[in-house]
Amino acid sequence: MCGIVGYLGEERAAPVLLDGLEKLEYRGYDSAGICVVNGGKFFVVRKKGRVKELAGARALEGNPGIGHTRWATHGAPSERNAHPHVFGKISLVHNGIIENAACLRAQCEARGEVFSSDTDSEVAAHLIGRFYGEKGDLLGAVSAAAELLAGSYAFAVLAEDKEEIVCARMRSPLIVACGPDGVFAASDVPAVAKAGRVAYVLEDGDFARLTRGKIELFDGALRPVVREAVALEEEEVSPGKGEFRHFMRKEISEVPAAVLNSLPDLSKPEFSEVCKVLCQTKYLHIVACGTAYHSGLCMKHAAEKFARVPTEVFVASEYRYADPIVPPGTLTIAVSQSGETADTLAAAALAKSRGSVLIAVTNVAHSSLTRVADFVLPTHAGREIAVAATKSFNAQLAVLYALAVQLAKTAKCCAPPLAGLPVLARETLAASAGVASWTPYFQGARSVFFLGRGADHCAALEGSLKLKEISYLPSEGYAAGELKHGTLALVDGRTPVVAVACDEALADKTMNAVHEVYARGAAVFLVTPFSALAQAKEVTASVLIPRCEPAFSPILSVIPLQLLAYHVALALGKDPDKPRNLAKSVTVE
Ligand code: M6R
Repeated sequence: MCGIVGYLGEERAAPVLLDGLEKLEYRGYDSAGICVVNGGKFFVVRKKGRVKELAGARALEGNPGIGHTRWATHGAPSERNAHPHVFGKISLVHNGIIENAACLRAQCEARGEVFSSDTDSEVAAHLIGRFYGEKGDLLGAVSAAAELLAGSYAFAVLAEDKEEIVCARMRSPLIVACGPDGVFAASDVPAVAKAGRVAYVLEDGDFARLTRGKIELFDGALRPVVREAVALEEEEVSPGKGEFRHFMRKEISEVPAAVLNSLPDLSKPEFSEVCKVLCQTKYLHIVACGTAYHSGLCMKHAAEKFARVPTEVFVASEYRYADPIVPPGTLTIAVSQSGETADTLAAAALAKSRGSVLIAVTNVAHSSLTRVADFVLPTHAGREIAVAATKSFNAQLAVLYALAVQLAKTAKCCAPPLAGLPVLARETLAASAGVASWTPYFQGARSVFFLGRGADHCAALEGSLKLKEISYLPSEGYAAGELKHGTLALVDGRTPVVAVACDEALADKTMNAVHEVYARGAAVFLVTPFSALAQAKEVTASVLIPRCEPAFSPILSVIPLQLLAYHVALALGKDPDKPRNLAKSVTVE
């Protein structure tokens, strides 16, 4: 996914576009580019890498303009594949994936058209450029091209001989906004938020035409439509890094507050409708991706242990094409930090269409997920900027565990209280400082295993995801008892193993796996509340975390694992905030 912006107004477009792109960089940072119109000509600057590489373009004269920050899907991250793409008299930026690009490109090439990038997006530029050349009607050209495209798109399109921007949306987010200083288009609110501006969220199939001081919205048949207007506030100043070198480290330090602020009091009247749904819940389905999927796995342990409600957790990208069985009495919970993950949105919509009630657990109010859900249970982790999710995971667990406890209450089962978790999270954070000294064992590692059983296995999966995403070390989270069934063959002296053992009933079993890997030369690192285990001769180093209900323990045990990933990434010279190939919000399939 990518971020797109457009601006037509009183100011020079270039600085407005660059400021907007910086706010959208969480969507991708493989390349960036802008195009402004000046004297009936396009001026295009495109660079590989981050938006800051475009600093030289800030001085460009001209208005209107469009801009793009890219997360590569088709074609390598390079200047050649950077947007905007120009063809004929039009210039275009695109977020999404044109699924029939290969076929359309072949048709264009058969007409003698020459492509200058490897992207799917350039096909749209060719179609729109050709149609515009025939009739000089930009809205008509974009609409005609849209009829030929399969896949997802948010476009902003300029013509060099017109003072207008035309936008289109299909399954990729797009808003337009209007204020005294001009009209704007963007993938997300932060790029345009300013008091005095009014925004409109385009729906799938919509088009928008932006001219001086005016926004017109059209449906798929180009009939004028009215969409709900939202008054924008000044964007809250982006949180800084404070005393920390990186956002990720700062966000880990905010875990205890995220847990405290997110724990809902489900006995409050505002949750009475949710509680009614819980009373009727026979099955729980959870759909999510990445870290949020791991939250779902943790929830399964709690819900099944305390409420005895059968719970299935689905990777959203699989669920959406799996023809899922959704029996009556199913409650689906879609978990997403951003609330914009395309796979999670599609899975949530599918669950609803099959008769399930849908609860959204998300960190972003007014995100797309909140619009499809029957109920929203927000996490209050505060804005998370580092690409690797940390505090949002713990916040999701706070909400999900509260739901599990409430489910148990409605089923007249017992469940332990959650109120102590924020304090325990603070103690865990303090106890975890020592993981920084583990890094030498990981710097020369060939691969890393994270082991655990039961809920500890879920924490191991999340610890492993954190490590691989920001340090690029091959790593696996594994059920401790399963290792001996083949995977143990991979373990040697260059395979550090991190074991999580927080459940007294399972800890000795997990330690069996520790003995097995130690015997094969692995250095073992342990996260546990049990000091006797930490003293075992097989354990190279450990973090002693506070004891809590085992089903809830991932909310604590993940903290040293998040810190470990951070320190290993630093030791390997990687940028923990912006790992290669990734983006914070994944709005494409
Ligand atoms: O915004 P979401 O929670 O829906 O995002 C889901 C995943 O893309 C996300 O958790 C991803 O795995 C993170 N980079 C993990 O740190």
